[in-house]
Amino acid sequence: MKAFTRRLLKRYPRLQDAAKLLMGIVDPRFGVSSRYALVAGDEVSTEAERLAKSWTAASIPARQRQLVDRQLQDFASGKSIQAFDVFVDLLKPHAQEGHTRSLLEIGCSSGYYSDVLRLRGLPFAYSGCDYSPAFIAMAQSHYPEIDFRVEDATRLTYPDASFDAVVSGCCLLHIPDYEAAIAETARVARDLVLFHRTPLVIGRPTEVFTKAAYGVETIEIHLSDALFYQLLANHGLKVVQTATLSTDQTPRGPSEVISILCRKTEPSHA
Ligand SMILES: C[S@@+](CC[C@H](N)C(=O)[O-])C[C@H]1O[C@@H](n2cnc3c(N)ncnc32)[C@H](O)[C@@H]1O
Repeated sequence: MKAFTRRLLKRYPRLQDAAKLLMGIVDPRFGVSSRYALVAGDEVSTEAERLAKSWTAASIPARQRQLVDRQLQDFASGKSIQAFDVFVDLLKPHAQEGHTRSLLEIGCSSGYYSDVLRLRGLPFAYSGCDYSPAFIAMAQSHYPEIDFRVEDATRLTYPDASFDAVVSGCCLLHIPDYEAAIAETARVARDLVLFHRTPLVIGRPTEVFTKAAYGVETIEIHLSDALFYQLLANHGLKVVQTATLSTDQTPRGPSEVISILCRKTEPSHA
């Protein structure tokens, strides 16, 4: 029954979205995220404030790592893991043979993208930061040789242009002050910025949801595509390549999850 329902929801994404919205409840067995509920416009700032720190819950890292360990095992055996493949495919053309470039992942969780780079032999020297002390403790225990720091994406302590490449690791969607996070991501990058796994809504205003991530209530912001691209330009980021991970036709219109690789240029305004 469980497998059948999963197949059904995978085949008909609209059904999945309708179920999320109508019931406000999705069986947590279906995955990492459940109980999506659209937040009304006048409640966005209260909900954002209430949930801004929710990913720091101490219960999340072990639950996420369980899933990640299985994915890393599959990836190591040569299987395709879409998020990892996209990450590698976007960065590979910018790796320089015989030269290691520095890379920071913001929102690194337990630092598993260092394994993704290592498993596919990409010459980037990885560092990671996350605002969750529990995630950073786990990252340090898994990868004692790597520099991990507890940092808030909206006010990083790294100096300007500290890293050749900076990855915003699927965290922008959880950060109510997403503009500050974009500005900081651009500031600490010298050359490349990758906004990995970013949900956008197409042709309509930003939508904000509450949802349960690994059983903890969190906020999820699906930025308007127009606003997102404008913010990139405002902060001196020029899109060089995008990869679409999924598209969905929601009851409110189209949405997608994309990874966007940018190059740093001069800001269009300060
Ligand atoms: C969905 S996980 C992504 C993990 C991994 N980067 C990936 O792409 O699979 C989001 C991560 O962003 C972190 N995060 C959320 N808000 C943050 C903030 N304001 N500053 C830094 N990290 C944040 C969370 O703690 C969590 O580890």
